[in-house]
Amino acid sequence: MSDTHYDDATAYRYYRTLTSIAGSDDDIETMLRQAIEATFAYIGAKQAFYLPCWEGRLHDISTIKVFNGESWNAPAGSLKALCDTVSEYASAKTGLVVSNEKWVLLVIDCASQPSVWAVLSVDSAPGDEVLSVLEDATKCIAFGLKHRRREKDIAATQRSMESISRGMAETMAQLVQAEKMSELGKLTAGIAHEINNPVGYIRSNLESLATYMDSFQTFFSELEQAVEKGQVSPEVFDSLKTRFDFDFLLEDSKEIVETNLSGVDRISNIVSELYAFSRRGEGKFKTLKVADVVKRCITLTRSQFDTHHNVIYEDDTTSGLISGDGSQLEQVFVNMMINAAHAMPGGGTLTLRVSETISHVEVSIADTGTGMDKATRAKIFTPFFTTKATGKGTGLGLAITQGILHAHDAITDVSSELNKGTTFTLRFPRVEGPE
Ligand SMILES: Nc1ncnc2c1ncn2[C@@H]1O[C@H](COP(=O)(O)OP(=O)(O)OP(=O)(O)O)[C@@H](O)[C@H]1O
Ligand SMILES: [Mg+2]
Repeated sequence: MSDTHYDDATAYRYYRTLTSIAGSDDDIETMLRQAIEATFAYIGAKQAFYLPCWEGRLHDISTIKVFNGESWNAPAGSLKALCDTVSEYASAKTGLVVSNEKWVLLVIDCASQPSVWAVLSVDSAPGDEVLSVLEDATKCIAFGLKHRRREKDIAATQRSMESISRGMAETMAQLVQAEKMSELGKLTAGIAHEINNPVGYIRSNLESLATYMDSFQTFFSELEQAVEKGQVSPEVFDSLKTRFDFDFLLEDSKEIVETNLSGVDRISNIVSELYAFSRRGEGKFKTLKVADVVKRCITLTRSQFDTHHNVIYEDDTTSGLISGDGSQLEQVFVNMMINAAHAMPGGGTLTLRVSETISHVEVSIADTGTGMDKATRAKIFTPFFTTKATGKGTGLGLAITQGILHAHDAITDVSSELNKGTTFTLRFPRVEGPE
């Protein structure tokens, strides 16, 4: 057997071609075909085909395409018999390259994955040198295969990771929704309680007023009869008034009306706070200068402070721009400033300071008021928590504020010391750009 046309240069070119095919970005199918075409040319085969196999057996030969030197075609009828022979031969021999007189079989082993058999039919069996080149070639193709399968695995892992992370995002969204619902649930329970209270006394007051109205009616009709009979002397009038307890009824009716009016005010306050709560996050965000909002709030809350108060405003910003909803932020600052005013009934100092870092714009609202103990401090953001007298605070201020600040990605820090004062520090992400 002569190997004359399989010189070193041809082997070298073949091997280089194969290395670049194995290392290319092509998919498995393309890589295998190109590798077989190159091998086909190298050994001067008559026809070639390849197929995946499991446990030493050929896999579904109906999918096989045969390379005849020019193109890949459907196999000729004799292929089945060839496959069977190859199969028998290959299952007995586990070496990488086997050859008999008629064909060369490359068993491209791919670790634990199914291996690929490339079968090339030849006129005469290649010599040992060519077989040893083919042995290296087989390793090279196996490397290309392994590399692609790993990439396929990585892509599949990536896809499954993506789907897991999508799933997690959905779960998170559901959890956030659930948390919102539970927040809403707590709020609803609070609202029910808060509104039920004034509704309860307004109703019982109105029932009393209804019986008082009956008494008034009877009183006036008896008075009318007395007038018709010409019997209205001061004594008769006085005895009528005493019998009907008229002075008490009148006094109590007045009180009832006053209490009911304040009850209705309380309900209407709660409702307007709730409107604000429901609108939070709906606002249109735009680039704004926080200092401008703070300055507006000083004007808005002027009536809350008197000559015993000292309101200091400091602006240390050069731009101080954030993305936000001005009217919602007004609500935040105004509530905190009113809270500060309430905490300093006898006077004190409110210091409003706007400053900035590279990444944040900071607003600090510091008062020298009553301060809070730990227990109060822990509950200030809870809806309806208030230490204020009935009618003075709904306890929704900071709960709403918290929601608005959250929508602005702002961080809130509260420090408070009993009898010394309280400082709220709000840190907003800073933005660049035109106002
Ligand atoms: N600057 C402060 N100093 C001392 N206590 C404060 C201060 N700010 C808030 N608090 C405490 O937190 C509670 C809750 O405040 P929040 O603004 O939520 O409600 P409120 O002021 O009581 O009522 P609303 O704001 O609804 O009229 C207050 O009642 C008060 O006890
Ligand atoms: Mg408040």
